[in-house]
Amino acid sequence: MKIVQIGVGGWGKNHTRILSQLGVLSAVCDTDSQRSKEYGEKYSVNHYESLDDLLISEKFDGAFVVTPTSTHTEIATKLLEAKKHVFVEKPMTYKSEDGEKLAKLAEKNKVILTCGYIERFNPAVDVVKKFVKEKKFGELVMLEFHRENRMPLHIKDVGIIYDTSVHDIDTANWLFDDMPHVVFARAGKIKHEHEDFASIMLGYKDDKVAIISSNWITPKKVRKFNAVCTDAIISLDFITQEIIVEKNDKTETVQNEKQEPLLLEIQSFLGTIDGKNEQVVKSQEAVNVTKIAEAALLSSQKGIPIYLDLK
Ligand SMILES: NC(=O)c1ccc[n+]([C@@H]2O[C@H](COP(=O)([O-])OP(=O)(O)OC[C@H]3O[C@@H](n4cnc5c(N)ncnc54)[C@H](O)[C@@H]3O)[C@@H](O)[C@H]2O)c1
Repeated sequence: MKIVQIGVGGWGKNHTRILSQLGVLSAVCDTDSQRSKEYGEKYSVNHYESLDDLLISEKFDGAFVVTPTSTHTEIATKLLEAKKHVFVEKPMTYKSEDGEKLAKLAEKNKVILTCGYIERFNPAVDVVKKFVKEKKFGELVMLEFHRENRMPLHIKDVGIIYDTSVHDIDTANWLFDDMPHVVFARAGKIKHEHEDFASIMLGYKDDKVAIISSNWITPKKVRKFNAVCTDAIISLDFITQEIIVEKNDKTETVQNEKQEPLLLEIQSFLGTIDGKNEQVVKSQEAVNVTKIAEAALLSSQKGIPIYLDLK
């Protein structure tokens, strides 16, 4: 299998490392010529500054798009038109209508289109997903997410909802195994060009709720959630992959094996290309996350709840 990577910046350098370790990286492309040369030479693969040149010269099966959000649609469209399997980093597109077009194009050309909602591949989230499915601690009623960090200075094209809250939106949809029908949000900006703090409430069926609190203001890196179930509260730390279960009489730490989520996510995409029936984020699920992010921004601007009817 041959895989190429478009964009080898701050996050993309991790994909390059893993794809090279897995022996499938065949070329890299970055409009920053120094970066493309650096990573091409580091991993002994061809390097390009232009996707058009790469498409002319390289034979490959799939591609990772790890460029800024505003560039995803154009790059993914070219790759899908060339009938390549495509993994786009989150959020799949800035506008949900562009995401719908990509999903249709992938379907028409019979290729896989997925998006980097990495927390689904966090082994700790997987444990909680199993608990919820088995109702080990009763029914899941509420999810409370906290994602806080100092502002990533290089992100200029989107605010915190599209960049950061989307991880928790997807995780909430994944854990509830449902799509919200209503979104209410308040967001504002203190230091960034776009919104840099947001509180989002997602309403699911049977009055179930996810509350997503994200900010780029406070300096400590926090990525956590509580899953409030009828018989216990499960607390998970996305970073340490620790899970704590609090019942009325005792608190227990769940033992689970820690693994790099990005490795599992990449292996899953490669396995799906190979036809091994691995699990990837469906393109429609990624489009829905963008629709929810759009609704959150609109809700915040208008001060009203936004009702959705998602597929
Ligand atoms: N899943 C996660 O946890 C996670 C974490 C960080 C970033 N991301 C996502 O990854 C993507 C990239 O983020 P980043 O932090 O690496 O950004 P970055 O700015 O550090 O890197 C982006 C790279 O893409 C290159 N680039 C820009 N336009 C290009 C084009 N048209 N063709 C080829 N290369 C181009 C830039 O030169 C740069 O090297 C974003 O979509 C972001 O949301 C995901």
